[in-house]
Formats: sequence, structure tokens, C-alpha cells
Amino acid sequence: MPEPQVASLNKPDAALEMTLRPSLFSDFTGQARVKERLEIAVTAASRRGEALDHILLNGPPGLGKTTIANILAKAMNANLKATSGPTIEKASDLAGLLTNLEEGDVLFIDEIHRLQKTIEEYLYPAMEDFKLDIIIDQGPNARSVRLNLPRFTLIGATTRSGLLSAPLLTRFGIRERLDYYSAPDLQKIVLRSAQLLGVQIEADGAREIARRSRGTPRITNNLLRRVRDYAEVRGDGKITVPVADRALAMLEIDENGLDEMDKRILEAIIVKFGGGPVGVNSLAVAVGEEPDTIEEVYEPYLIMEGFMNRTPQGRVATELSYRKLNLPPPGGNQSRLL
Ligand SMILES: Nc1ncnc2c1ncn2[C@@H]1O[C@H](COP(=O)(O)OP(=O)(O)OP(=O)(O)O)[C@@H](O)[C@H]1O
Ligand SMILES: [Mg+2]
Repeated sequence: MPEPQVASLNKPDAALEMTLRPSLFSDFTGQARVKERLEIAVTAASRRGEALDHILLNGPPGLGKTTIANILAKAMNANLKATSGPTIEKASDLAGLLTNLEEGDVLFIDEIHRLQKTIEEYLYPAMEDFKLDIIIDQGPNARSVRLNLPRFTLIGATTRSGLLSAPLLTRFGIRERLDYYSAPDLQKIVLRSAQLLGVQIEADGAREIARRSRGTPRITNNLLRRVRDYAEVRGDGKITVPVADRALAMLEIDENGLDEMDKRILEAIIVKFGGGPVGVNSLAVAVGEEPDTIEEVYEPYLIMEGFMNRTPQGRVATELSYRKLNLPPPGGNQSRLL
């Protein structure tokens, strides 16, 4: 089965992220309120000569969590040590990371919701009192030793803050949620990236790519590259509206930025499950995708754009999705045929 577009378009491309990732707040477009609050926190902490408070960044993939973590460390003139929830397998891995930090350093834990509970518990005193209790030796000689840690900043990133335990959640002094970007913000991002990549693009062409990027800068950047390829091979290299439109149609990205998998999901809810409600696991089996990917990548955008709703009983298709798929909405005479 070919890889669904959104999943592949929202995959980090290491080289691309290096070139296009903004490293200063002034290059970071959108998320105005989040940006303002974080900039104030940075300025206040640096004036007092203190480490930043611990920060949790939450939101769907590709919206700039890792980017912001890097911007924050740079703005604080601090080193950033990056790790991720699943790679910390043992308490000693975490102890190693924490004891190697210097005063003011940033420890960035990506996918922090995937941290094991037993390891999470070591973080509580580390975050709150900058202490680490470790057990040394084994058997009858085993004893707990308390280490002092430097004042560091933990920045956690997660696509699923709902999976974080309350004790961990409340130890973050600053919690910010990133939302999907508006089309005008994404247009600015397209223009900035095009300039960095040396791509010729008209403002309207940039708007077309922006509009169809699911509110996600990473997708914007990936679409820009694919449209550039198309423009070079099938045109004169310049991205105009017709070129962008033809390239995006070739990529099977529709007017609303929905792709094949989005439509498969909506069609499954409507045709296989009578419009819903349906649980995410049954839906995942029906479309051949991981439940987590549906929940983290596809669903949030479909819900935001009004194509589906999430109820306690499960996912439900909205009238808009019937129209999108040219299917008669329920309540109409033909609905019973579905
Ligand atoms: N506000 C922004 N302005 C310009 N470019 C941005 C912005 N936010 C993100 N980007 C671009 O999008 C890419 C993806 O951002 P980033 O890696 O920070 O997302 P993420 O939230 O960490 O995603 P994931 O959950 O997959 O780790 C970056 O490489 C950067 O080029
Ligand atoms: Mg990231």
C-alpha cells in the first residue's frame, strides 16, 4: 500500500528542516499569543539571571514544537540537549542526562507522553527541587543517594498531552498549545522558504500552496518542494497559481488540502459505519492505518475543518463530509440506502 500523503508530507526531512527552521522568534511566523508569552518569559528570566521555567509544548505534528524549543534555548543563550520519551529506557539513562546538564541548560524531551511511568517519577523531584534520588548498589547494599542537579529547564513536547499524568503536567510552569496556522501565516512561511531555497514564486502561487497545507508548516515546506519539482519539469521553474494547482492535483491534494487517506476515513465512517459513531480502533482497521496516526495526524484537522466530530460514543461524520464525498446526507430519502 502506498504511503498516505499526509503521513509522508508530515515526515521530517532532516536536511530541509535544517535549512528552513527559523532560529529566532523574529523569523517564527504565526502563533502570536504563544510567541508573546514565551518571549516575555525569556526576557524576564534572563533579566533575573535565572533558568526558564519548565515548558510543555503540545500540538499536532509539524507545527513547530521542536523549532520553538530550539529558539528558546538560543534566546536564553543555553545549550539544548535533546532526547525523546521512548529512547529513555532505564532510570539510569535519565540520570545520565540530568547529571550531565549545566546550570541553565535546556533538556528537550520530545514525545514526552511516551516516557515510562517509572522513569517519569524520577522527573518529579528533578523538576521541582532539582534533586535526583538514585539507588546505588544492589541487594542488601542498595541505598538511595540524593544528588543535587543544576537549575535546568525541561522543555517537553507532545502530540498527546491528554496522555500525560497530572503530576507531570502540573510540574510545567508554562504550558502552551500550538494550533493549526492560518492561510496568511502559511503564505508568509512559503514565501520565506521559497526565498531560502531560491525558488521563484508568485504571491498567489504561495497562497495556493498555503491554503492546501492542512494548517501545517512542515507540510507547507514539503509541498513547496514538490511543486517546485513540478514547475521545473513541466514549466519554466516559476510557481504560479495554475502551476501550483496542477502540481497539487497531481499529488491528489484537493481544494481543502484533504488527501486520499482523509477521504478514506470520511468514506469509511459514512459508508461502512452508517455515519458513525465509530471507535477509532474499528475505523483504523477499516482504513488500514494505525489508530495513533488517525488520532494525532488526520483527525484533528478533519475536526477543525468541520468534516467530523468526536463524541463520547465515537467519531461521527458531519454533513460537510457527505457533501465532500457527494453522498446524500442522512435524513434525506436516500440515506437509508447507505
Ligand atoms: N512558525 C514557523 N515559521 C516558519 N517555519 C516553521 C514554523 N513552525 C514550523 N516551521 C517549519 O516546519 C518544520 C516542522 O516544525 P517542527 O519540527 O518544529 O514541528 P514539531 O511540532 O516539532 O513536529 P513533530 O511533532 O513532528 O516533532 C520546521 O522545520 C520549520 O521549518
Ligand atoms: Mg518535533
